[in-house]
Amino acid sequence: MTEQLTINKVTTISGEVVVPGDKSISHRAVMFGALAEGTTSITGFLPGADCLSTINCFQRMGIQIEQNEDKVTVIGKGWFGLEEPDQKLDVGNSGTTIRLMSGILATQPFHCVIEGDESIAKRPMRRVVGPLKEMGARIDGRKSGEFTPLAIRGGDLIGINYVSPVASAQVKSAILLAGLQANGTTSVEEPSISRDHTERMLQAFGVEIKREGKKVTVTGGQRLTATDISVPGDISSAAFLIAAVMILPGSRLVIKNVGINPTRTGIIDVVKAMGGIIELRNERIVNEEPVADIYVEYTALKGTVLEGDLIPRLIDEIPVIAVMASQAEGQTIIRDAKELRVKETDRIATVVNQLGKFGAKVIPTDDGMIIEGNQRLHGAEIDSMGDHRIGMAMAIAGLIAEGQTVINQADAIRVSFPGFAELLHSICK
Ligand code: S3P
Repeated sequence: MTEQLTINKVTTISGEVVVPGDKSISHRAVMFGALAEGTTSITGFLPGADCLSTINCFQRMGIQIEQNEDKVTVIGKGWFGLEEPDQKLDVGNSGTTIRLMSGILATQPFHCVIEGDESIAKRPMRRVVGPLKEMGARIDGRKSGEFTPLAIRGGDLIGINYVSPVASAQVKSAILLAGLQANGTTSVEEPSISRDHTERMLQAFGVEIKREGKKVTVTGGQRLTATDISVPGDISSAAFLIAAVMILPGSRLVIKNVGINPTRTGIIDVVKAMGGIIELRNERIVNEEPVADIYVEYTALKGTVLEGDLIPRLIDEIPVIAVMASQAEGQTIIRDAKELRVKETDRIATVVNQLGKFGAKVIPTDDGMIIEGNQRLHGAEIDSMGDHRIGMAMAIAGLIAEGQTVINQADAIRVSFPGFAELLHSICK
């Protein structure tokens, strides 16, 4: 990981763009396609490193998958059509791959070892390993199952009612997927609702799911039937462009075909709360998922408070929200976001360190940060620390910093936004 990205100060951005496919939806389309009976055609797939890891893992379990840019065909062999892999499965940098796949592997009667890169090796796995073991799966990993590599032998599961201490779609999805082949019913209740792409897409694949408030229930023994999936643009990728518009006076942008699932639109609510102009146009539903074009126009912003149920709805956008907040009038306070500490990096620490290099004042707290507004930024030498969203958030800060900014380890950006630098270049004036 040695690539560098150089960013110069610009005056404004404008145009009409399309962002790459939604990462969460792309992963699930491949996984559910592999487990379904029949052929699933996916369009708008995100050909980022994370989703390619998912394809690779399922190919190693004997599933035929063809991928050409954003088009993917998955020839499903039914839930028990997966084969024991003859090598370890490598998830690369992808937390979604390892956690959701653990739920699927917990139902399979074969042995398998999963691992990923250095960042994955530091991320907590007991949050999925614990409940899956409770259901009857045999799983082990370093530090009593907290860390990778994970060794799994599944099968013969019994349903559980799990009350999750964290709002995590990866945890919820892993348990629900295991529950689809467990005896009886399985439910997951979370403290705040996390993204619900699993629930929506399982329904598109013909699965029955019951949702009541913060609790989701499935009954075991269900089959998935192949369906075609059209993946909308990723709002988490669009967020970088929305923030860029909001810090560059005179900017405006239309971002076409973006997923606006309410469990993901916290960024829109925050821009509005800060006084920004942002509109949804041409709203529609595709494969149970709401989609729209987003129009955004520069407005001077004011600081705000981000907390509570809003946090899971914008958890991945916090690094770039911090950049936006550094240009607002007054302070922005983020709390209840301890989950940031266990993302691809400790994103409280990496935002404070890297944004600090531009001269911004960001104070870390145990479960969030306080960002001072009205900051003048100067060009800096930044390190993505191998975290795609840190790399991109800092590139956006570079657009308003005096002088030049260099992002080291910029290759990380390919994890979720291939073509980021080119797209940014095409709209900068
Ligand atoms: C994801 C869930 C979130 C998010 C991640 C993708 C998913 O993680 O941060 O980028 O696709 O389910 P958590 O489940 O750990 O909150």
